[in-house]
Parts: sequence; C-alpha cells; structure tokens
Amino acid sequence: MKLLLSVLKRTYTPAVCTSRRRCVSSGGSGLLRRRDETLVVGSSRELVQRLGSQVEVRTGFITEQEEGALMREVEPGLKKKRYEFDHWDDAIHGYRETERERWGEACEEILSRVRSVAFPEGSPLLGPVHVLDLDKTGYIKPHIDSVKFCGSTIAGLCLLSDSIMRLVKEDATNEWLDLLLPRYSLYILRDQARYNFTHEILKDEESVFNGQKVSRLRRISIICRNLPG
Ligand code: OGA
Ligand code: MN
Repeated sequence: MKLLLSVLKRTYTPAVCTSRRRCVSSGGSGLLRRRDETLVVGSSRELVQRLGSQVEVRTGFITEQEEGALMREVEPGLKKKRYEFDHWDDAIHGYRETERERWGEACEEILSRVRSVAFPEGSPLLGPVHVLDLDKTGYIKPHIDSVKFCGSTIAGLCLLSDSIMRLVKEDATNEWLDLLLPRYSLYILRDQARYNFTHEILKDEESVFNGQKVSRLRRISIICRNLPG
C-alpha cells in the first residue's frame, strides 16, 4: 500500500490567526456537529463552508459490536506483523497494515453500508480494502493518496481510538481543516478535499482539537477507495 502514498516533505504552517478558536465559526452552516460537538474546524469560516460538502464525518457509523466483528477479522492477520517505526521516508510512522478482499458476512454488511453512503452507485472500487493499524505512538504524515491508483473518494472507518485528521491546502498551507474522527465514525474525503489538500493523522502529543486534548490510542482504520475515473 506504500505505493499509494507520497509524502510531501514540508512542515505544517500553523494558521495565521492568533487564536484558532476565533477562526472557528460557532453554529451556522458549514459546521458539522454531534451532540453539540464540533467535528470540523478550519482556518476560516469560508473554507469550512466551501469544503464542508467534500468532507464528511459520520459519528456512530458502527456499533461497539460491529467494531468487535471487524477486529476479530483483522486482528489475526495484523498480529503476525510488526509495527514499523524506523523508515524515515515513509508517510506513516508506527504502523502495520494489511489488505483484505473477502470478508465474513457481518463485516461485508458493514462495508456495503460504507460503499453505499460514500460512493456513487456503480463507481468501480479498488478491490481490496486497506486495513491500517497505528500504534499509540504512530501517526500519518501529510500526503495525498496516489492519483494513479485511487479515484476521487476515500472512506475510512475509525476503530479503537478517537483521532484528528488535518487537511492542509497543498499550495496554500495557511488554509487548513481539522476533523475530529471519533471512534466508531466513518469519514469521507471527496474531490478537492482529496486532491488539493494533504491529509494526515496527528500524533498523540499533537492531538488537540479546537483547544481540547484528544487522546490518541492504538487506532485501526478500514479504508475503501474507488478507482481513478
Ligand atoms: C492512508 C491514510 C488515513 C487513516 O492510508 O493513505 O491516509 O484514516 N489513512 O488511516
Ligand atoms: Mn491517505
């Protein structure tokens, strides 16, 4: 799966605003909320609104039992591998991964739910589903998924831990969005959010969302992608 990633070797430039809180619109369209909790914040209200339609976070997309079913399927394969830490040029640090083409009935049902909300009907999908296991100390550096191998949409289920995904505009690093990805959620990146913004998963020490610490534990993502059009 390393082929899918190319790390952009540059550092993240923090927002120009003095207080991130002040840059965040509170209420109104463009902000996605769960139980009054903001899930998307950004460098400007305008960006949150403009990119809002191309970024979705669906909380509680799977239940605890469904997470258990997915874990029972992926854990045996993952356990045979070691977390990889020391490849300095990798896009991902502290991870192990696998791909899975065939799933048991319960998991297949979950994945078909993912496909039906994330992809247009009939859109050809990348066959194998990508399973990425990040150690508690693991993180994903800013990158854009390969446009050669993946299409316009990326949909990921979040297991075991909350996390923060940061999107940064490739050619204007002062434009950014942070997504809070709670455990059990599904996120979807489409179009510009997928092509023109890098995405990354923050390390535990950096996981502060909208001023609040988010503990990053071991996290597994199960990612479906479509094929380039
Ligand atoms: C990737 C990636 C995000 C995630 O593997 O390309 O960006 O949610 N993963 O694990
Ligand atoms: Mn990616």
